Amino acid sequence: MVTLLFYEPSSRTFGSFAAAVKLLGGQTIEILDPQHFSSVSKGETLEDTIRTFEAYSDAIVMRHPVIGTATKAAAAAEVPLINAGDGNGEHPTQALLDLYTIYEKFGQLDNLTGLLAGDVLNSRAIHSLIRGLSLFKKNTLYLLSPKELKLTRADLSDFKQRDVQIIEITDEKDIPKNANFWYWTRVQKERFTDMEAYEKVKLQFVVTPSLMDRFAGRDMILMDPLPRIQTIDMAVDADPRAVYLRSQIRNGLYIRMALLALVLGVKV
Ligand code: NCD
Repeated sequence: MVTLLFYEPSSRTFGSFAAAVKLLGGQTIEILDPQHFSSVSKGETLEDTIRTFEAYSDAIVMRHPVIGTATKAAAAAEVPLINAGDGNGEHPTQALLDLYTIYEKFGQLDNLTGLLAGDVLNSRAIHSLIRGLSLFKKNTLYLLSPKELKLTRADLSDFKQRDVQIIEITDEKDIPKNANFWYWTRVQKERFTDMEAYEKVKLQFVVTPSLMDRFAGRDMILMDPLPRIQTIDMAVDADPRAVYLRSQIRNGLYIRMALLALVLGVKV
């Protein structure tokens, strides 16, 4: 029995975790929007909520809008707690499925060149993918974003101490033509307090067939954690290099099944 405790909206992460538990023969307690549909609405603390659901389940999967909350919840929990995204912090299971998608195509996770584009500042999927790729040797990552949405300098210096080369760019013309993968992300509207600032940057970088023609190699893959919010032109979907609506989604199910089986000691 696994509790899915999602304080933030989700389609793929929630759907694939729910399917993964069930395909492994388990069941779920699904609490969507606990701020309204649990005692959180009455002011219950995070720790008490965690202590409650662990009484009914073997693991808890949690998504939360505030960075660091997964760590706090894990400290309160006696059952395994899986971070399904914490604010603009990390999204480790997304990184696993992204790494697997890259591995499935290239058979390696080292010596690769990647382009990570969009909301580099706020995309937890990008943060975790950089962290994941930095565990392997000789990867080079170009980070393309509006100048307002670069990594925090603290994150940049943290990543620079890892075994990965990071090159920040703010202009499409600097996209390297030899990238093995592109990883596109939407601008994370929900992390902005100033909507004018959001409007200014939201559509700065859009993948179009013409951008692919100019900069993408023949053997690369185009990924997106989704949702795409006008950041990849639908005309690109039919391109065989576009894996975001294909293997990338399905791999989310497989790696979450594998992770749950490992964490819960399920024999498959
Ligand atoms: C991402 C997320 O929630 O961080 N989505 C996902 O889990 N596949 C990306 C996003 O919301 O932009």
